[in-house]
Amino acid sequence: MVRIGPLELGEFPLLLAPMEDVSDPPFRAVCHRNGADLMYTEFISSEGLIRDAHKSVQKLDIYDDERPMGIQIFGGEREAMLQAVDRVAQAAPNLIDINYGCPVKQVVCKEAGSGMLRNLPKLLSITADMVRRSPLPITVKTRLGWDEDSKHVVYLAEALQDIGVQAIAIHGRTRVQMYKGQADWTLIGAVKNNPRMQIPIFGNGDVDSPEKALANRNRYGVDGIMIGRAAIGYPWIFREIKHFFQTGVHLDPPDTAERIRTCLIHFERSLQWKGEKLGILEMRRHYAPYFKGYPDFKEYRMRLVQSPDSHEIRAILNEIDQQYAGFPLQAGNPAEQAIEN
Ligand SMILES: Cc1cc2nc3c(=O)[nH]c(=O)nc-3n(C[C@H](O)[C@H](O)[C@H](O)COP(=O)(O)O)c2cc1C
Repeated sequence: MVRIGPLELGEFPLLLAPMEDVSDPPFRAVCHRNGADLMYTEFISSEGLIRDAHKSVQKLDIYDDERPMGIQIFGGEREAMLQAVDRVAQAAPNLIDINYGCPVKQVVCKEAGSGMLRNLPKLLSITADMVRRSPLPITVKTRLGWDEDSKHVVYLAEALQDIGVQAIAIHGRTRVQMYKGQADWTLIGAVKNNPRMQIPIFGNGDVDSPEKALANRNRYGVDGIMIGRAAIGYPWIFREIKHFFQTGVHLDPPDTAERIRTCLIHFERSLQWKGEKLGILEMRRHYAPYFKGYPDFKEYRMRLVQSPDSHEIRAILNEIDQQYAGFPLQAGNPAEQAIEN
């Protein structure tokens, strides 16, 4: 059983990665239904939170039917991070995750996200204060290191454990790599197989099929796998991996009726959470991934992304349901297709 503090996550949890502009409550609703065992909010600026910035505060929304949930924060300022811990704790997630992995320039230049990887003493000192301050388990998500010459994650993981961090998710790239090349899980395995490590270690990076998930589990011995991009437009990846682990065979991909059902849940939750206008707008980028591989779909997609009217969008989805009833998916890896989109 994988445990983070009081949280029990089963034998081999599959985690939905925190993703800015993606892992909002509507998207999480469809991932949760399809087998994600632990999910995270998008990253939230500690400074935005304590300024009460609307965008940051809105990201604190979590719903009981999607638990267990982690709220992820980032920042480079000790006082802001500590106050953010207080603010996040009021929102009562199951855990608070610190982002030490974001490679984006505007974040890094404030010594936040992976920027902290250039100053490990400061990272550890702020994290230790946060652990002391937090009534909830603190976890960390990070990368292998800043660059090729500073892949310190084995040391860092041990030091984080020593100051009370209760789980670590590691993306198998350096900051300098951004999202380029292939994730290297070797050091993730080295962290996991360090005999001093007791806390759960989750591997992350490029898992987009049941085979890859199984290979990484077997080869690197991680306690669970975190999945990001492959879930975009394909939330069924979680249940497909679980089915493959249990049976050794592939679950059939979702048929059209199921895609429509899922898309509608996502759509209705979007409208509820963001309001009609913004909900409709923000759903537009999700249609193509949900129906990736569908022949002659362009016209439907154009209608879906052009319509400003929720009744009309539901009617178009209904039309798609009938037009492609029972449509079997093309050969190939649907998750990969979703990423390319
Ligand atoms: C659109 C997008 C937004 C992301 N936002 C965050 C974020 O807010 N916090 C974070 O820790 N990582 C973020 N990431 C990184 C992912 O959590 C994950 O580490 C990365 O995508 C590698 O996993 P994958 O290959 O399964 O996608 C983001 C990635 C993407 C593609």
